[in-house]
Amino acid sequence: MQTRIEVGILGATGMVGQSFIRFLQGHPWFDLRVLGASDRNAGKKYRDAMNWNLAGSVPDSVADITVDESKPGTAPQLLFSAMDASVATEIERAFAEAGHVVVSNSRNHRMEPDVPLLVPEINPDHLKLVPGQQRARGWKGQIVTNPNCSTIVLTMGLAPLKQFGITKIVATTMQAISGAGYPGVPSMDIVGNVIPFIGGEEEKMQQETQKILGEFRGDRIEPLPARMSAHCNRVPVVDGHTVTVSVEFSSKPSEADLRRAIDEFTALPQERHLPSAPARPVIYMTEANRPQPRKDAERERGMAAFVGRLRPCPVLDYKFIALSHNTIRGAAGAAVLNAELMHSEGMLR
Ligand SMILES: NC(=O)c1ccc[n+]([C@@H]2O[C@H](COP(=O)([O-])OP(=O)(O)OC[C@H]3O[C@@H](n4cnc5c(N)ncnc54)[C@H](OP(=O)(O)O)[C@@H]3O)[C@@H](O)[C@H]2O)c1
Repeated sequence: MQTRIEVGILGATGMVGQSFIRFLQGHPWFDLRVLGASDRNAGKKYRDAMNWNLAGSVPDSVADITVDESKPGTAPQLLFSAMDASVATEIERAFAEAGHVVVSNSRNHRMEPDVPLLVPEINPDHLKLVPGQQRARGWKGQIVTNPNCSTIVLTMGLAPLKQFGITKIVATTMQAISGAGYPGVPSMDIVGNVIPFIGGEEEKMQQETQKILGEFRGDRIEPLPARMSAHCNRVPVVDGHTVTVSVEFSSKPSEADLRRAIDEFTALPQERHLPSAPARPVIYMTEANRPQPRKDAERERGMAAFVGRLRPCPVLDYKFIALSHNTIRGAAGAAVLNAELMHSEGMLR
């Protein structure tokens, strides 16, 4: 029988923290023991420390846990981090230095050259950065990150197509309001409206995509040498980020080549039957009006990417639409799958 592993969540009271709690309920490997938040909430029972924003009520298994201050000490070795970006840099470093494995959602360390920006279906070999990270920083622990919630949709959609030599990408997002945390965008701004600006998001999406689809070269990642332009918009959708993508390839594949690559795409998490891996990571929908966030984001436990409307693009070579659940595949579920891959690689004690 599999030995169970104790885990904690930093930023457990926030939007993504709650998504972690829900996602970890009944996990076959991980036992949730520790919930961390700011000093404002340390010492309170979890049920009194937050407003539960997800469907249903706070799970009984966590409601009476006393919230910890976010300082290394007695926490389990494996910690998921969903802390506010304004504090995550120093706190995550302190935990890694103290020997913890920090699997983080926050943007703070994603683009550091020795930190894996991991999508287990795409770049599991980027975990090979970790020994160099530990050597260079003198850490017993480590930091591994998952991408921004819009980047993951795009990279999952592009993953099956990478083999055809991606040279240019233009991506336009329609991003759900849950991506802004709680309370997020004021209702007066977003109801019946589109906000054509999300601070820093376009730059993040461009850089992260090139790192994720890049190649591991000994001690560093060589970014994908593709030119990329992102347009990021906030739309009045609760959950599920949609991205429309135009892409140019060096090898000039046919539409049938691309479709076959999407339909046949499978990867290490599926081969290893990792508990949170969707049976098929990228699902092509043939209906002309799908995928849609309300109908499709929650399917496959929110862990798959849905792709549709693959067709020729008169400017680049082909265009398509992609969708994924932003707080699950774009945050909590992504980090849990990262930790499962790390465990299957023998990186957790
Ligand atoms: N929402 C998404 O879809 C999404 C997707 C991907 C990544 N992310 C990233 O995930 C992180 C969390 O996002 P969110 O939407 O969940 O934000 P959020 O709802 O604002 O939650 C922030 C969390 O950080 C904690 N925190 C704040 N100051 C702290 C401190 N000094 N020490 C320790 N903990 C502190 C908060 O605890 P208190 O309640 O005690 O203040 C809370 O638990 C962010 O870095 C965000 O960029 C979000």
